[in-house]
Amino acid sequence: MTTVLLLESIHTLGADFLRDKGYDVKTHDGALDEDELIEAIQDIELLGIRSTTYLTEKVLNAAPHLLAVGAFCIGTNQIDLPAATARGVAVFNAPYSNTRSVVELAIGEIIALARRLHEKNTDMHAGIWNKSAAGSHEVRGRTLGIVGYGNIGSQLSVIAEALGMRVIFFDVDDKLALGNARKCATIEELLAEADVVSLHVDGRPGNAGLFGEDQMVLMKPRSLFLNLSRGITTDTAALRRHVESGHIAGAAVDVFPIEPKRQGDPFESDLRGLKNVILTPHVGGSTEEAQQDIGRFVASKLDAYSRFGNTSLSVNLPEISMSTHARGHRLAHLHQNAPGVLASINGVLGQRGVNVEAQSLATKGTVGYVVTDVSAEVGDDVLDEVATLPDSIRLRQIS
Ligand SMILES: NC(=O)c1ccc[n+]([C@@H]2O[C@H](COP(=O)([O-])OP(=O)(O)OC[C@H]3O[C@@H](n4cnc5c(N)ncnc54)[C@H](O)[C@@H]3O)[C@@H](O)[C@H]2O)c1
Repeated sequence: MTTVLLLESIHTLGADFLRDKGYDVKTHDGALDEDELIEAIQDIELLGIRSTTYLTEKVLNAAPHLLAVGAFCIGTNQIDLPAATARGVAVFNAPYSNTRSVVELAIGEIIALARRLHEKNTDMHAGIWNKSAAGSHEVRGRTLGIVGYGNIGSQLSVIAEALGMRVIFFDVDDKLALGNARKCATIEELLAEADVVSLHVDGRPGNAGLFGEDQMVLMKPRSLFLNLSRGITTDTAALRRHVESGHIAGAAVDVFPIEPKRQGDPFESDLRGLKNVILTPHVGGSTEEAQQDIGRFVASKLDAYSRFGNTSLSVNLPEISMSTHARGHRLAHLHQNAPGVLASINGVLGQRGVNVEAQSLATKGTVGYVVTDVSAEVGDDVLDEVATLPDSIRLRQIS
């Protein structure tokens, strides 16, 4: 039975999925520190973590049986990816499981800001009855400007249009416009037209300081601003000035340049205490639905790799997806991305009379991955010969 350890209270759907498939699954509620982890994963083949378990090179060195790591979250900064790759350990995560959650929060916040709900709610809790239409708007017919038209930005586009908003977007890549959305050639063009500007860019280094004084001054008077993407993108001091001056009528911010490390740690920001500014503690993607989806999604990736050698959407290995239907035997070979490895493997198989029925090769950076379906079980001597080819990293026979 393949051994699995799931840490950090990963959603139970993950463990259920793997147990149903016959894995020997152990779970642990919290994260483990380096020494505890080294002790715990000696015999583990599949490991599941979230964001607070750090997989260092030292830990990976101490896990000779480890085949794959599932990061049951979005980010993989907690894993030494080059070290994992060099040891032939596949890493998977769940890049899309919380897309819808972020989009729904953004939609809710656009309406809340347009209706000044936060301000009205605060007044009511303070015993103030302030019935007024001043400064409250419908979103229908307003223009939403989306900066970053990736998974989240493009889904937001579709739902905003369903609400009757006009959508324009700017992306550094050439993206297909969905529905009636219109692509802008520059961010300046977008800022000149948008009643609501929403950032959905990724965290590439060039995006630090993407949105500051120079951009805010170009926004339409009384427009709204949202950042549910990355804290580093936005100059919060400039945002405060523009909200105080009334140039920006409201803002919703979920991500901050510096965020508290632990639950209960104090939160400091220029944006505290402003009217019609909604602040949330990086919860855009935090819903029970997203957690369930992450549990199921990452568990299925670990299973597909363990039982079939499939690496689709792996963070670090080349992607191969071969048939999961009944077949003979499968060899999954990870190697240095060097010329001639495929020929060497096939040379060994050919000389030993092993018939290849299907084969797929992919490379990514420094590694290559070749999956070969063969008609009969391959003997240990042949496996040894392939495993010890000069550029081999790891070989598995999957039956
Ligand atoms: N608040 C949360 O809890 C939460 C949850 C999930 C994701 N996120 C963040 O949301 C962001 C978007 O996520 P995604 O899954 O849509 O990512 P994605 O990679 O699918 O899309 C990002 C898009 O931004 C574009 N882009 C990058 N830099 C740009 C720039 N300077 N100007 C214009 N376009 C630019 C890219 O070309 C890409 O199309 C990420 O930063 C992600 O970390 C936040």
